[in-house]
This record gives sequence, C-alpha cells and structure tokens, in this order.
Amino acid sequence: MGVKSVWFAFYYIWFMFVLVFVTDLVFCRTLSLDPDPCDSMNQREFEKLRSDQLTVLINGYSESRIPLLQTIVASYSAASVVSSILVLWGNPNTPDQVLDQLYHNMTQYSPGTASISLIQQSSSSLNARFLPRSSVDTRAVLVCDDDVEVDRRSLEFAFSVWKSNPDRLVGTFVRSHGFDLQGKEWIYTVHPDKYSILLTKFMLMKQDYLFEYSCKGGVEMKEMRMIVDQMRNCEDILMNFVAADMLRAGPIMVGAERVRDWGDARNEQEEEQVDEGVRDVGLSSRRVEHRKRRGKCIREFHRVMGKMPLMYSYGKVVNSVGEQGLCRKAGNLVFCDRG
Ligand SMILES: *[C@@H]1O[C@H](CO)[C@@H](O)[C@H](O)[C@H]1NC(C)=O
Repeated sequence: MGVKSVWFAFYYIWFMFVLVFVTDLVFCRTLSLDPDPCDSMNQREFEKLRSDQLTVLINGYSESRIPLLQTIVASYSAASVVSSILVLWGNPNTPDQVLDQLYHNMTQYSPGTASISLIQQSSSSLNARFLPRSSVDTRAVLVCDDDVEVDRRSLEFAFSVWKSNPDRLVGTFVRSHGFDLQGKEWIYTVHPDKYSILLTKFMLMKQDYLFEYSCKGGVEMKEMRMIVDQMRNCEDILMNFVAADMLRAGPIMVGAERVRDWGDARNEQEEEQVDEGVRDVGLSSRRVEHRKRRGKCIREFHRVMGKMPLMYSYGKVVNSVGEQGLCRKAGNLVFCDRG
C-alpha cells in the first residue's frame, strides 16, 4: 500500500467520523423538520404505535422562561409513562448558543429515562406545534406550554383516563364557547358548570389529531390555520374544533392534584385557575381584550366551517384526592382552596 492510499484511508476515516459525529449532534439538538410532515406515509397506524407511554410536546418561546422549561422537562422526564419529550422552540431569534446550552442542560439534568430533543421550529407559526412528527412513536401525545407543571401522579391519572377515551381530548384547563343573545354572536367565556374548550396548557390526545389539524380538511382547514397565523392566537381553539367535529363530543376535564401555573407568556390573562367560575365583573381590561380576541377566533372558525362543532362537557374526572391548584395570591403561590 502506497503512501497516497494511506493518506486517502486516513482522510476517508476522518471524513466519516466528522460526518457521523457532527450530523449526530445537529440532529440531537435542532432536528430539522421532516421533509413533508403531511406525506401520507407519515400518518402512523394507530394500532402499531406504543400504547403504554406517551410523547410530550412542549412549546418553548421565551428565553426568560428557560429555567422553568428545564424544571418542567426534568419533571416529565422522570415519569415512567413518558417515552420522549420534544421541546418545540418557536422563537427564531434565539441564538444557537443558547439553544445548545439549553439542550445540554436539559439532557444533563433530567433524571428520567425519557429521551429529550430540542427542535428549532422553522417558523414562529403557532400551527407548527401541531405538525405531525415521524419520531413520535406513541399513540398519545401530551401538548403543553412552558408555563404549567402538572405533578406526576396527575399526569399518570390523566393518561389512564385518556386510555379509556382515546378519541377525546383530555386535560386540566378548560374554557367555553357561548352565544351572546344580546350581541347575537359566539363568544369565548367561562361557565361554572360546563366547558367545551381544552387549553394547550395540558392537552392529552391521540397523535392522529396532529395529522387532522395540519394536513387534512382541505381549503377550509387551510383558511382556519391562516386565521391562527393572522390572530397569532387560537391554535388551541382550532384543535378543539377539529376534535369535536370528528367526534361529536367535547373534551374531558381531569382534576390535577398539584398544578403550578406561571401564566402564559402570550396571554398573561389566562393566569387564573380552572375553577374561577364566571366573574366578568372586575376583569382586567387586558383580560377582556384577550377574551374578545378569542371570541373573534370562534366566530371566524364558525364562519369558515359553516357550523358550530364545539360540544359541552360537564363535570370533571378526579382521582379521589381532588384538585389542589396553586393560585397566585398577593404575589405568593398558595393552594387555591386555602386562599
Ligand atoms: C445551563 O446551565 C448553566 C449552569 O447551571 C446555567 O448557567 C445556564 O444559564 C443554563 N443555560 C441554559 C440556556 O439553560
């Protein structure tokens, strides 16, 4: 073997090493999107997917919430029902360096066995959180925000409720649509005893709905996804429209023992706890604005669909102990029922 071929072999090995090693790093951290998330090959057969565990899809956007995001990821990663966690980073302006560190920290300091990936979304569209992903190999996905931590037992309980009702949306934070008789229009509201909209603070569902939301429904769905982009809001409401329209049933609310809610980065107005009841009196003007915007989404979706698919559900499923939410009172987090 001549000197040339030794060098050639050397370079070849080095090249392969770089290729494998570097691409591996890139894929761990900022997984690029699947070429076509709506390729029909990507619609996974429900029966072939894992049923004993779920995949967590957490939306991250705000750099100031990164420590919180890490806490939530660490907490979910320790739950035996969690197979993997995908952190969907929706802020295109976050420096790579920060994301590298975030990824490092998340994988370093998460105690559990769940696999963790950090995915830089290719756009800041809110619809992107619902894109089907080929790496999701479980029937159930938990869609959640970076501001709410639900304790492990409640997560396991919610998962068991979902397993008995795999077509329903299952979660903890609910709102309602309603019809305002005076204004003669659909509105976004809270009813004390019924609900029709599950928030993405904590939303368990079958992964098929990701496909339904992102890929199906023809021009109507496309128009409604555009409304989400224009409003920069309401992707959660649209998911409720999609599921209710297919199912002719509303979501299921499950109680959680301990919920820590730090408030939505986009909608600070959503901070209140689930069982607030209807108290329109004294609502802050920002909260009123927020409800108006959400009401507009409901009217727009109704217009495009030509019907109102949202259905009311009543009551919540509790795991004996009942709910002990944490509420913010005078700047402190306290159990809501002791407020
Ligand atoms: C990662 O962890 C280090 C050490 O705890 C901390 O200083 C840093 O701010 C963290 N960075 C990110 C992006 O999470």
